[in-house]
Order: sequence, then structure tokens, then C-alpha cells
Amino acid sequence: MSARHDVTDDDLRRWVRAAGRAPSAHNTQPWAVRVVDGRIEVAVVPDRVLCAGDPSFRDLLLSLGAWVESAAVVAAADGHGLAVEPTPHLDRLEDMPVRGAADPAAPVLVLRPAGTPEPTALTPADVRDRRVHRGTLLPAPDLRASLPPLPAGLRLLQVDDPAMTRLVRLGSAWTASRRAVAAELVRWLRLSPEHPRYTRDGMTDRMLLLPPWLARVAAPLTRRPALHDRALAVAGLVGRAVEAVDRTRPLPPPPAPGAPLAGPQHLVLVAGTPGVHSATETMDARLGLPPADVVDAGRVLQRTWLHAHRAGLAVAPHSEVVDSPHAVAGLRRRLGLRRSAVALAVFSVGRPGTPAPRSPRLTDAAAPAR
Ligand SMILES: Cc1cc2nc3c(=O)[nH]c(=O)nc-3n(C[C@H](O)[C@H](O)[C@H](O)COP(=O)(O)O)c2cc1C
Repeated sequence: MSARHDVTDDDLRRWVRAAGRAPSAHNTQPWAVRVVDGRIEVAVVPDRVLCAGDPSFRDLLLSLGAWVESAAVVAAADGHGLAVEPTPHLDRLEDMPVRGAADPAAPVLVLRPAGTPEPTALTPADVRDRRVHRGTLLPAPDLRASLPPLPAGLRLLQVDDPAMTRLVRLGSAWTASRRAVAAELVRWLRLSPEHPRYTRDGMTDRMLLLPPWLARVAAPLTRRPALHDRALAVAGLVGRAVEAVDRTRPLPPPPAPGAPLAGPQHLVLVAGTPGVHSATETMDARLGLPPADVVDAGRVLQRTWLHAHRAGLAVAPHSEVVDSPHAVAGLRRRLGLRRSAVALAVFSVGRPGTPAPRSPRLTDAAAPAR
């Protein structure tokens, strides 16, 4: 940590640029951030919110939390804490238009440099270099043993591999068979460098580790409406068939307790302690949790992923498991979750078999990748 000095707006802009490497669902980067008179204002970009895939704003709020945590790590390296204040706009995300640019007059979070940071082992290099890995993940020791304690109300629970395999299939089938959700996913794919947004946002063929022949075949599907519609229709048929079979079958039996992991570890971030939230707060929120709490959970999620990165491990998120009602129901039963508990994120973690490619960012154009 370097010596503290007064924070200038240029420092804040540097933190903002570095935090741009935060993860977000489909790499939408749904934040619009500006520095005004010693504070950082974070607004939401309606065009970058997944209307079909994220109706509860779960992924949006977790992504905002990941952004805040990334900024806090960079600020801490400069010797500064970061006070985070949610604004009333955070509780009124439903009022946001479904299209268009961010409203700078309606920030959802305001961040200000404040005091001394909490001690952390995490560094700006971790924020810069962390990345999701969609290739082979090899077994590794339990990540939870190397994490700082979680805040009250959050738990990281492990789900066994036979259940996870089935839940991922159910979740993927759900995504494929909901046309609007699948179309939205396709809209964020960039399968060829000729895509005009290949170096800015979304998910590239390289990030998804697609073999070059498959990327070449699939790239036109993302661009030409006639092909696109036919591909979605086929995906829908396959998805519905898989869902129809899998949702009626019980999950496979769990492995014997204490059996060593044969592959990656699968973890679920679960929020909610009975009685902690008032009925009004939770009924007002689509997810059953106050939005500010989900932002805080996003901070914990990013902290967890950064600690995994520091330990030489890689993470592969599987939101489809918490998107699909059938998969969530199976997950709840497997983990014995109460009704008040909300499964916010599911991800696998393990030792990466190969290096993972770097994803694009809007902020990379302003500051070339190091
Ligand atoms: C809330 C959230 C949910 C995500 N869900 C998924 C997912 O279901 N599947 C996946 O492959 N990646 C998922 N991701 C990872 C993003 O696609 C990834 O962060 C983004 O493409 C940028 O890539 P990077 O994290 O490697 O920089 C998720 C990320 C966040 C923050």
C-alpha cells in the first residue's frame, strides 16, 4: 500500500478505469460512471441491462457490486477507503426505461474516498488479470479455507458434482428454450473479429474457447436475422426436449461424504438469514432481498473470485442454474435451503488446465491493455 495523499479527480478517474475490468453477466458492463467533484457516481445503462435474462436485476446488482469491489481494491492500494452510498434510484430500478443511455442525473451508487482501507491481500493487478475460465478446471483444495470470513447473512455452500452436472444441463436447456433469453445471449456474442464491438464488450469466440471452425460457422448466425431465427427455433426445440426429460427425474445420488473431488469444486453464494430483512423491504424487491444487499453480495462474489485468482485458481460461473426455476428448485432441495434463502450465484472453481483468454472492455479503448 502506498502512502496516503489527498485524492484528486484524476486519481478517481484512474480507479474508475481500473475497475472497468470487473466482471459482468455477458460482459455487458452495465455501469456508466462519472467523476464529479471528489466523488464517483455510478448509474445504470438501460441498453446494457438483460431485460429477458435478468428480470429480477440479480445479475445487474451483482455486477455493480463487483465493480464497487474492484474500485475499492484499487483505492486501497493507494491507501484510501471507499465509502459507498446507495441512492434512492437503486430501489427504483423498475422505473428505468428498457432502452437507451444512462441517466447521469440518476446515479444508483455514490462512492467517496474515506479514511483508511480495510487490510486486504488483493491488489490492482488481481483486478486487472482475473478472468473467467470456461475450459477444463482441475481439482483444487476447498477455496473457502483461504477466504476471509463472509459477512453475516451470506454463505458459500458446496454442491456435489453429480447434482451440478444435472443442474447445469437443466439450466442450459431453460436458456435455450426461452426464445427472448436465448436471443439476448446471441446479441452479446462476438464470434468474429469483424464484429464491430469485438474489442469493446460481450463474449468473444476466444473467451468462449470455440474452435475456429465453429466460430466461423456460428458467426453469421449472430448477424443474419433469417439464420438467427432458425437457429433459435432449433435451440428451443432441443432445450424443451432436454428440460421435459430432466425436470421429472430425481437428482443422481450424492457422492459418499468426504469423497475427494474428481473435478472442480462447485460453490453457491446464498443470501438471507431469516428475520434479518423487514417484510416490506423484501416484498418491494423483485429478488426478495433489498437491492443494496445484493450489491454487497456482488462485492463478496468479486472478492471471492479475486482470492481464487490469487491462489492460482480459476472460476467458471453458471448463472443458468439460478435462472431456471427447475434448476433452482433442485438446488434448493439438494442444499436443504429454506424458503427465505436466495441462491444468488453458482460457480465452479479449480486449477485451470490452460490459460484463459482476456475479455474485452469499453475502458480498454481509453487505456490500452497492459
Ligand atoms: C453476475 C454474473 C453472472 C455471470 N454469469 C455467467 C454465466 O452464467 N456463464 C458464464 O460463462 N459467465 C458468466 N459470468 C461471467 C461473465 O461472462 C464475464 O465476467 C464477462 O464475460 C467478462 O469476462 P471476464 O470475467 O473473464 O473478464 C457472469 C458474471 C457475473 C458478474
